[in-house]
Order: sequence, then C-alpha cells, then structure tokens
Amino acid sequence: MAANYNNSAWFYDSLARLVYGNALINAQVYLLKRISLNSKILIVGGGTGWILEEITRIHPSGLQITYVEIAPDMMAQSKKRNVGNNQVTFINDAIENVDLPKDFDIALTPFLLDNFIEENLNKIFSSIAALLKPKAFWLNTSFQLTGKWWQQVLLKTMFIFFKVTCGIEASKLPGIDKCFEENGFKLIEQQSFFGDFIGAKIFKK
Ligand SMILES: C[S@@+](CC[C@H](N)C(=O)[O-])C[C@H]1O[C@@H](n2cnc3c(N)ncnc32)[C@H](O)[C@@H]1O
Repeated sequence: MAANYNNSAWFYDSLARLVYGNALINAQVYLLKRISLNSKILIVGGGTGWILEEITRIHPSGLQITYVEIAPDMMAQSKKRNVGNNQVTFINDAIENVDLPKDFDIALTPFLLDNFIEENLNKIFSSIAALLKPKAFWLNTSFQLTGKWWQQVLLKTMFIFFKVTCGIEASKLPGIDKCFEENGFKLIEQQSFFGDFIGAKIFKK
C-alpha cells in the first residue's frame, strides 16, 4: 500500500502552510477536545509530529500515545517533539504491519485515509478499527468534495504532485464516510474548513 511521504518530509509542513495557511492545523486541533485525561491514543500517519505538541499543550501529562508513521524521515522529526510527561511509543512502520493491543480509547488519522485506493482503504481501516475499544472515538481529518470547482482542481494537483514525489497510489478520493458507516461507526460531530474542502469528523465505535 503506497502512501509513504518520506521524500516530502523536509518540505511537507512548509508546503502545507503555503497552500492552506492554518487550515490543516486548525482542522486537526479542533478535534483534540475529545481527548480526555489518561486516554490511550493511537496516532496513525502523524507526519512530522507537530500534532504531538498540540496534544501536549492540552494534556501535558497522563496520556499513553502510540505513534505509528511509515516514513523514517517523518518519524525522525516526530521524535524530537516536546511531549511533556506523556508516554509516547514511536513505531516506524505501516499500521497494517503492526501488532498492537486492542485497547485504544481514541484513534487519530490526520489526512491518512485519503491517500489510498478503495481496496486498500478498507484494509487500513479494518486494521485500525480492530485496535479500538468498544465506544472508542475516531478523530479523522480528510479532504472532501462538496461541489466547488476549485476543490477538484486542488485535489487533482495534490494527487499528481504526491504521486510524482512520493509514489502515492490514490488519484481520487476513496469513500471514507461510507467506510465509517459500513463498519458501524457513528458520526457524532463535524466541522468544515477551507471552503468545506477539509472535513474534521468525530466518529464513535
Ligand atoms: C498526507 S500525510 C499527513 C501528515 C500529517 N498528518 C499532517 O497532517 O501534517 C500522511 C502521512 O501518513 C503516513 N502514512 C501513510 N501510510 C501509512 C501507513 N500505512 N501507516 C502509517 N503511516 C502511514 C505518511 O508517511 C504521511 O506522513
């Protein structure tokens, strides 16, 4: 399953900020209120790891975080982040290859699921869903198309750019909401960003 962003690790955050300003950050931070004290959290595809510092700002201690990221250069940057007194386990591998205890209270998948073709989305999705406790929360951010012409243009440009630089497999958005629905997850809260092009959603198992 090809969605390894290693080649982009040195410019990813700068490019994201140039194109989207703070929208990618705001969308992810918006969801963090759902994290409660002493939770066990799974982060998949956290990129350079800035999300760890945002989480630490809210909870400087008491969290058990497992951080799974496939790209070694992304992981190297993530390991340098300030995580306060939270306990973080870094795993540099693909989530579908990792054997973890099935007792997470919360999963975070920030701009992960939109990178896969339909068939692989289902595989990645199942491997994450299986690690969650009953009634766990899944905080997901993804791009979404809501009918504005420029969204298609921007999306196509991104897919082509990351296919060329990183070999990303997707060339269109897979059915992410459908996947949550078919697997019995309930959408309990959502907010849109950047002209509705970015969806931040809280699902409950
Ligand atoms: C589009 S980037 C988003 C990075 C970060 N969440 C952000 O918003 O800045 C997707 C990230 O997921 C990682 N990734 C892709 N497939 C993965 C997998 N199967 N397991 C773990 N990480 C994966 C990529 O290497 C990349 O860092």
